[in-house]
Amino acid sequence: MTIVGTYGNIQSIHPEAMLAGGGSLRCLTMQLHRKQKKSSNRLLSNNCKREDEHTLFRMTLRCQMKGIIPSHLMPHLSNRFEIIGDVAVVSIPHELDDYRDDIAREIISKRGNIRTVLNKVSKLAGDKRIAEFEILSGDSTETFHREYGYIYKLDVKEVFFNGRLSFERRRVASMVSPSEHVLVPFCGVGPFAVPAAASGARVIAIEKNADACRWLAENIRINGVNDNISVIKGDAVNSTKMLNCTFDRVIVPTPYGMDSFLKNVSLLVKKSGMVHFYTFKKQYQIEDLVKEYQNMGFEVSFYRRCGNVAPGVSRWVFDLVKQ
Ligand SMILES: C[S@@+](CC[C@H](N)C(=O)[O-])C[C@H]1O[C@@H](n2cnc3c(N)ncnc32)[C@H](O)[C@@H]1O
Repeated sequence: MTIVGTYGNIQSIHPEAMLAGGGSLRCLTMQLHRKQKKSSNRLLSNNCKREDEHTLFRMTLRCQMKGIIPSHLMPHLSNRFEIIGDVAVVSIPHELDDYRDDIAREIISKRGNIRTVLNKVSKLAGDKRIAEFEILSGDSTETFHREYGYIYKLDVKEVFFNGRLSFERRRVASMVSPSEHVLVPFCGVGPFAVPAAASGARVIAIEKNADACRWLAENIRINGVNDNISVIKGDAVNSTKMLNCTFDRVIVPTPYGMDSFLKNVSLLVKKSGMVHFYTFKKQYQIEDLVKEYQNMGFEVSFYRRCGNVAPGVSRWVFDLVKQ
């Protein structure tokens, strides 16, 4: 990595400087995408019912575990687990501690593309929004995750990644046009920033977690978008101090509890520019929230729920047009 500028203790890195080699990355991306599609189809015909997003499947794990886990313990077993690349992430409650290895073995035996099974033993926590995991099977938590033709390399233990947002990311990416300047604070390993850059927009991505920045640099290279993204390793809260330009679009995958960031970042949005703002709310809070955004000088052009995060609490996205 070459540092091409600093903002106080914040470093701006141009990904071009990180580019090593080149090759036919586009071609690789397409091949992998086709492979992923094939394997998804195989899974679907294998009794796996797809949910609304691409990487979360409702599996027949309970069916698989019949005869292994006693029936009185079965209600503790969730059918759901997340897949990030070739890593499966399950949350096994203590009641099923004795069956962790059996569960991992069943997942691997029925899913040819899973290499590692992790048990999530804590909730997402801290600034980095990462959980603690124990490895039930396999030896690596590094993986390649494929999403709508893009590839993200990451270590599940080091960075936040939520494959269930793939549809939402595609929705946002489809709105980006090549002439735009786009800001992505809290960018993680790049699932919003990389597609925006691939649309031809000029993107500035901000991320605090050094590991996520390292993976982002890799993903920029893998996806061949090095000409269009600049990465700032630093605190997005300082965005207005470190950037002296305005943006056509700001995509804010807001970490929990940082809703006040909207006021801050709205100073960086051009008139008629758009903010895609993500927030965790209960249904009854939405009406007031719409009014609050209007009072802040935004037109709420669209909003929707995009996933549950806790009982009664959902992740919502608001598309806000600056007046
Ligand atoms: C909710 S995750 C979203 C990650 C990514 N956009 C995605 O969809 O996968 C939030 C990300 O923001 C980063 N983060 C948290 N606080 C930050 C801050 N103050 N400044 C910059 N990045 C921050 C975390 O490290 C994490 O990668």
